[in-house]
Amino acid sequence: LQEKLIFSFVMEEKFSKNIFADRDAYYMSCPEVVAEYIADRLSCFDSAVELCCAVGMTTVQLARRIRKVVGIDCDERRIEDARRNARLYGVENAADFIVGDVLDKDLLEGLSADVVVLDPDWSMEGDDKSVHVDGIDCTQPSLRDLFRLAKRHIARNIVIRVPKHFNHDMFSEFGYCELETIIWSGKPRFKVAYFFEDCKENTEIDISFD
Ligand SMILES: C[S@@+](CC[C@H](N)C(=O)[O-])C[C@H]1O[C@@H](n2cnc3c(N)ncnc32)[C@H](O)[C@@H]1O
Repeated sequence: LQEKLIFSFVMEEKFSKNIFADRDAYYMSCPEVVAEYIADRLSCFDSAVELCCAVGMTTVQLARRIRKVVGIDCDERRIEDARRNARLYGVENAADFIVGDVLDKDLLEGLSADVVVLDPDWSMEGDDKSVHVDGIDCTQPSLRDLFRLAKRHIARNIVIRVPKHFNHDMFSEFGYCELETIIWSGKPRFKVAYFFEDCKENTEIDISFD
């Protein structure tokens, strides 16, 4: 009961609406205020794709600021929830959702956009979603493969959400990026890496949402 109460408390502060999501998707989803911030940063773009969108909590915020947005996830029930969440946030006409494997080249070839957001699962195998993987090959699916495919087939501007212990050295092969440590509700939660085409050096800052 105590675990349920704590979980309900965290859920309540994460989103402004009573969203549709299974428990794991709720836990893994980007908090609304952070997704809004990411969407603001990307609002200069005209089109976006999110690979691994789960129940759509980042895609929905992108769709509030970007004209054409597509979210893809391999979990059919999550995509159903993402469509319901898009209606909940009033962006059902701006966001398209597709059930599919984000490593499927044929699927990716049919998409092109100004920017692509990658948000693979970084939890270790097992029930405890708070234990995170150690490198770009260990995410589900592999960030190394996902980055290469996304860059080749979708967009040259790429944004990735990664665990908070990731650093520039771990993805130096992807090029320069602006790395932001996201502090939400008093604690560092994760990082967001912006690999923009015009990025000429690595930078790192903290962004706080308290
Ligand atoms: C961290 S969650 C995404 C959270 C979401 N971006 C948000 O902010 O609400 C990771 C998602 O990756 C999806 N996923 C894992 N492997 C996949 C694959 N090969 N193809 C498509 N989706 C995949 C999982 O189903 C899960 O919903």
